[in-house]
Amino acid sequence: MHASPATPPRMTPDPAAAPSWVRDFKLATPPPGFIDDPYPAYAALRHHDPVHELAPGSYFLTRYDDVLAVYRNPTVSSDKKREFAPKLGDSPLFEHHTTSLVFSDPPLHTRVRRILMGALNQRAIARMEVGLLTLVDGLLDRLADEAAPDLIEHFAALIPVEVIGNLLAVPHADRAPLRDWSLAILSALEPAPGAEILARGNAAVTDFLAYLRGLLADRRQHPGDPESDVLTRLLMGDAEGQLTDVELMHNCIFLLNAGHETTTNLIGNGLHALLRHRAQLERLVADPTLIGSAVEELLRYESPLQLNNRLTTAPMTIGGRELPAGSFVTLGIGAANRDSAEFADPDVLDIARKPNNHLAFGQGPHACSGMNVARLEGRIAIGRLLARYPRLDSRGAPQRDMRVRFRGLRHLPVRLG
Ligand code: HEM
Repeated sequence: MHASPATPPRMTPDPAAAPSWVRDFKLATPPPGFIDDPYPAYAALRHHDPVHELAPGSYFLTRYDDVLAVYRNPTVSSDKKREFAPKLGDSPLFEHHTTSLVFSDPPLHTRVRRILMGALNQRAIARMEVGLLTLVDGLLDRLADEAAPDLIEHFAALIPVEVIGNLLAVPHADRAPLRDWSLAILSALEPAPGAEILARGNAAVTDFLAYLRGLLADRRQHPGDPESDVLTRLLMGDAEGQLTDVELMHNCIFLLNAGHETTTNLIGNGLHALLRHRAQLERLVADPTLIGSAVEELLRYESPLQLNNRLTTAPMTIGGRELPAGSFVTLGIGAANRDSAEFADPDVLDIARKPNNHLAFGQGPHACSGMNVARLEGRIAIGRLLARYPRLDSRGAPQRDMRVRFRGLRHLPVRLG
């Protein structure tokens, strides 16, 4: 614990004494201004009602210790069949989300994760560095030719799709639809997706599967190097057997989705935070060796993924409250990462912050398998951009992505200086 001296001792609050907007807080219909700046609402929840009942049997956690305890509890489940069945019905989206490793328990989770982690080892990540530098430097050259440079459209969104495309060895000519498929599939995970969002998500899964069937058939005939090609590795399986085609394809889709939007948002949110905290931007320009701790701090300060979900399978006491088996629990990553009981002056951006045990990549058995890939992308993208354009400045208001689970920007207009 690293509480600041100003932090009052933590008490078990009485939710009945909370302001009515806190008592009525819902992620599906958040209060005005929440999408722009959720942190005051998170702070009020942490203070008044840290185990907040969103609906009967469904709780939202905002304190660091409570979120961490659930991540680490071996009895909680990540299986989403019960949660998604009423929302998604018997649909391509349901099959996709309930077959990907992130929303599975053992044995499927253990098998897929073992194979993936084998392909995302440090050697494989180190091999990505040269290609990534070339990609980023090329994008930075082209940025100078843009009449109205936008750090999302012309920079952040173009990096992860290439990295994951390379990991799965998707031919360059086939990569154009990947970003839109990914956005459509992940948008269906919002707390209350409308019919149009679900229809777009289902169409994206169907199109993505059709594409992958062809890619798989080709890779079976022409296997790649399993040291660097994740798809070949997933096809080969391991000592305990192979994945079925359905398992394999849905986990490829998940990998593309998992590594895509989150990393775009790490780069976009990170640059946006630095532009709003000029002294920190100048500190990083003056001392580029801070890039490692800066990326960690940007992940904490504006976490790209704000929420995770779990289901209790046994009674569990959290924050002094007894949750029965079968409770849905929403873990507030963004809220935990601003908890003053863990982080001194949590609303201050400090690119040299130490220690910084943020939860942006989750924790426990499902902790992000691609965290070191994302860190590498963040360090190279943000570091090279500031080295090339140290006088970078905002040009008008950015446009925010209006979702609560994924925190990011759709447009970040800048002047390169
Ligand atoms: C800044 C970028 C990223 C963030 C913030 C992020 C965040 C997360 C979080 C919070 C989880 C845990 C989900 C849970 O416990 O329910 C997760 C899981 C996962 N992430 Fe990431 N991620 C990022 C980038 C990546 C990249 C680049 C890849 C792949 C190359 C990736 C692959 C995965 C996979 C495969 C899982 C599932 C692990 C499992 O269920 O065992 N992620 N990620």
